[in-house]
Amino acid sequence: MILSVLLSSIVILIIAIYFYIKWKYYTVHGTIPGLEPEFLSGNLRQLGVVSSNRELIDSYGYACEKMQKVYGDIFQLWIGINHYYVFCRPDHAQEIYTHRNIFDLAKIRTKTFGLISEHALVTLIGPEYKRHAKAVLPMLKKNKFIPQIPIMTNCVDKLITIWKERYENKDNIICTCIVSDSQQLMLDMFTLIAFDYDFGNLNNLLKSAKSSDSNDKFELSDLGKALAIWLNGFQRVTVNGMPAFINYYLLKFDKIYQNALKLLENYSYKIISKCQQETDLNRKAINLVASLVSTLQEDEAAEMLKHEEDKTGLTKHELLGEVLFLLLAGYETTASAISWFIHFVSKYPEIQQKMKEELKHNGITKETSLDDDDLLHKCEYIDCVINETLRIAPLAVGSFRTLTKDAIIDGVKVRQGETVLAAFSVMQRDPRNWKLDPTQFIPERFYGIDAPDRNHHSFAFLPFGGGHRVCAGQEAARLELKVIIIRLMQFVTFTDAPGNNGGRYQRVTVMPKEVAVSIKFD
Ligand code: HEM
Ligand SMILES: *[C@@H]1O[C@H](CO)[C@@H](O)[C@H](O)[C@H]1NC(C)=O
Ligand SMILES: *[C@@H]1O[C@H](CO)[C@@H](O)[C@H](O)[C@H]1NC(C)=O
Repeated sequence: MILSVLLSSIVILIIAIYFYIKWKYYTVHGTIPGLEPEFLSGNLRQLGVVSSNRELIDSYGYACEKMQKVYGDIFQLWIGINHYYVFCRPDHAQEIYTHRNIFDLAKIRTKTFGLISEHALVTLIGPEYKRHAKAVLPMLKKNKFIPQIPIMTNCVDKLITIWKERYENKDNIICTCIVSDSQQLMLDMFTLIAFDYDFGNLNNLLKSAKSSDSNDKFELSDLGKALAIWLNGFQRVTVNGMPAFINYYLLKFDKIYQNALKLLENYSYKIISKCQQETDLNRKAINLVASLVSTLQEDEAAEMLKHEEDKTGLTKHELLGEVLFLLLAGYETTASAISWFIHFVSKYPEIQQKMKEELKHNGITKETSLDDDDLLHKCEYIDCVINETLRIAPLAVGSFRTLTKDAIIDGVKVRQGETVLAAFSVMQRDPRNWKLDPTQFIPERFYGIDAPDRNHHSFAFLPFGGGHRVCAGQEAARLELKVIIIRLMQFVTFTDAPGNNGGRYQRVTVMPKEVAVSIKFD
């Protein structure tokens, strides 16, 4: 008797769990249109974003564009087991960004980025976020980056030297490694300017370019390898559709990943202690991480006892989390943007010509030092090219926000705890928001006071997101991109080559799948 009661309770429990999971993760909620999701992949396989062997082959932005065509501007989307209400109009975005008390940082951020570092600004909300923001945001201000411009140009010059070794006077050789070259460039550049630490990847790349021995292959530095493994782990857990606790253990028991993480922590500690030992005050003043390190708590044990609201400064462990996240945010994003830039301008020699003329017009030669804000400011056409690159090839699908209370957006009720996605990647390519064809790369749409798309809806173009959790590195990123592009345009011209097909590919950011260009030296 007892046994049969027990058995039937277990069966009922299993059925209940099955229906709960089915309801929670695999059912279209309410009346908002959507596609019935599949086990683990959600809608990604149906939309062609993951292939049948679960490999990501396209971007989340592509998934949203496809859904929008069928269901209109508001629909439900499952990215793996994560459910979102997607909003595709600029006025929706405006609503979401403006009410920061209702639409707070998405839980998904904590779930994903939290797996790689629990104590970084990107994953935090409330008073803990404020404490971290106070430590991190000042170091990302534009005026902190301006004195670092000579370091930036120096890194670009190294890359140009590498290209010269590889391609000068060899007309038949096409460069197909733009994405990885851009990543090595940004890794070296960002760790130098942010952490005063030389990664040495460009030097290795140069050595292997110079070597006639084909066995003398390019070796990533230890740190580079570790970063690649760490990013790869991050990539896996963001797209495999497993619940967060399973992913936590997948990474926990992944030896290669854990070793990479240890190495990264080691380097981060080295960066921190090198900075603490720096006695040259001039160097200290321009070193970005110095301002971060200066926020280290003197007495961690005492701070720990305080309420979060009363705490100040960061613990060493938290500082480490920030350094790791900044490494990721600081290189992967800008490297993708540079790759897209090269891909697009290689198809338009006249756009490159116009940038080169703008430099000449402003008296910027190969000898001009670029650490002059007014001078940089004058190159407006180059800004338009940067904006057009970020518009046509958005690096992120949009901004995710979780509701702190029930809300109504455009007549649609969304409950507390649900997550919305303001899909700016869709808006940036939606013909309703643009006068000139948004599928075409036309920097002129922004250039000059009466340019056709200069007065676009201000929420239709938000490559860095918006509201109170807008990209913290926006100014720094724009400055870096500008300096890199100016330097490139002073020395080289990119031309289209067979296989320069672009295509979108979801990594932490969206990258071009295929870039193939010839590089000519001016
Ligand atoms: C072209 C380059 C970049 C693009 C397109 C980009 C884009 C973004 C986007 C879309 C977000 C999310 C915003 C939202 O949820 O509304 C974000 C957040 C963030 N980005 Fe960037 N980013 C870039 C470069 C950088 C760089 C160079 C850094 C650091 C040096 C950086 C640091 C951050 C940080 C710290 C956050 C989190 C802010 C918060 O949660 O409060 N980003 N970025
Ligand atoms: C980290 O650094 C310490 C001392 O600098 C060293 O003994 C240890 O082997 C390093 N660990 C890793 C994983 O590199
Ligand atoms: C580029 O876009 C940003 C953000 O929308 C804007 O503030 C800036 O004025 C734009 N620059 C140009 C030259 O259009």
